[in-house]
Amino acid sequence: MAGALPPEYEPEQEARGLDELLTPSAVVDLDRLEANLDRLGAYAAEHQLRLRPHVKTHKTPWIAAEQLRLGAVGVAVATPREAALMAEVTDDVLVAYPTVDRARTRIVADVAHRAEVTVALDSETAIRRLANAVVDARSEAGVLIEVDLGSRRCGVGTPEQALALARTASAAPALSYRGIMFYPGHMRMPPSEQDDAIAALNRELATFLDVLDAAGLPAETVSGGSTPTWQRTHEMEGVTEFRPGTYVYNDRATAGIGACARDDCAYTVLATVISTAVPDQAVIDAGTKALSGDPARAPGQQGYGSVLGHEEVEVVRKSEEHGILDLSETDWRPEVGERVRIIPNHVCVSVNLQPRVYGVRDDRVVSSWPVLPRGWDLG
Ligand SMILES: Cc1ncc(COP(=O)(O)O)c(C=O)c1O
Repeated sequence: MAGALPPEYEPEQEARGLDELLTPSAVVDLDRLEANLDRLGAYAAEHQLRLRPHVKTHKTPWIAAEQLRLGAVGVAVATPREAALMAEVTDDVLVAYPTVDRARTRIVADVAHRAEVTVALDSETAIRRLANAVVDARSEAGVLIEVDLGSRRCGVGTPEQALALARTASAAPALSYRGIMFYPGHMRMPPSEQDDAIAALNRELATFLDVLDAAGLPAETVSGGSTPTWQRTHEMEGVTEFRPGTYVYNDRATAGIGACARDDCAYTVLATVISTAVPDQAVIDAGTKALSGDPARAPGQQGYGSVLGHEEVEVVRKSEEHGILDLSETDWRPEVGERVRIIPNHVCVSVNLQPRVYGVRDDRVVSSWPVLPRGWDLG
């Protein structure tokens, strides 16, 4: 079933110019997207690492099917809605997010009838509630214990805590303990500057793996990885699979830390210049509701996005429907009515705001698809 795409999820064919789209619209350069997918597939194959892309970036069945066709072993998801949709494309779904509330656990336990579901969690409560849900649903689920190797978000901080949870999961009805998961969200430095962080991560990871081994509960799966660290996943000792998400489209923050080239940014928001009345600025019709309000996260970057082809021009301010381009450092003077494409700081949040995404080749719109699993509930 890996990579099988139900026909209703095929992208719709289009044949029109970019200038025919209403703005703001999300636009994906399909050549760049394909190159990004190929690059990661080749890396995973070269290093014999299991690639499990996180689909929260694209939320799109046909892209997940492409990832699977290029060697991904399954997908990672964050929300129940993503889990339910992705179970139509793959039989291997990792819910890389603790399932705690009853509605969430119920949906996940139901999805486990259609795919092999594994949940990453970090508390006795989450294990108990997941066990109750799968017993009620007469399904079963795997469990990864989430450990914190520096990101200070979710994840237990000591090997003893991880062992205690591994024991609980092993003993719980209808659950099977499969290993550990971590997210290296603290590693947002350029790949060439990750030596120290990788060495520290390896030291800490080893302490978890040793304790689990010694207790007879070895981590069969060690799930790690992210987009900023993907190029160096093979140096993370013991990691069996990695979960990059952003790499499909990339974004300004990823390019800003050198984890991709600027030309690898496949996703932009097409916008129209609606005002140049105030000197040294142009106003576009893309604000927080199209770009998101995520602040710049890479050194030297400010604002909320930059203009494709004029990367020195930033969206310096925004309101819901307005983005303000600062033109004080450029000779470029866009005219009212001119179209621009904005590379957002954080692509995943921008995609989640879009009802539809348009695929382009050579500046022609050739396909489009809805962003289906927005929100959490099955709705
Ligand atoms: C648990 C988990 N795994 C993987 C990812 C993918 O990270 P990235 O988008 O940097 O590739 C995320 C992103 O938030 C995540 O939360």
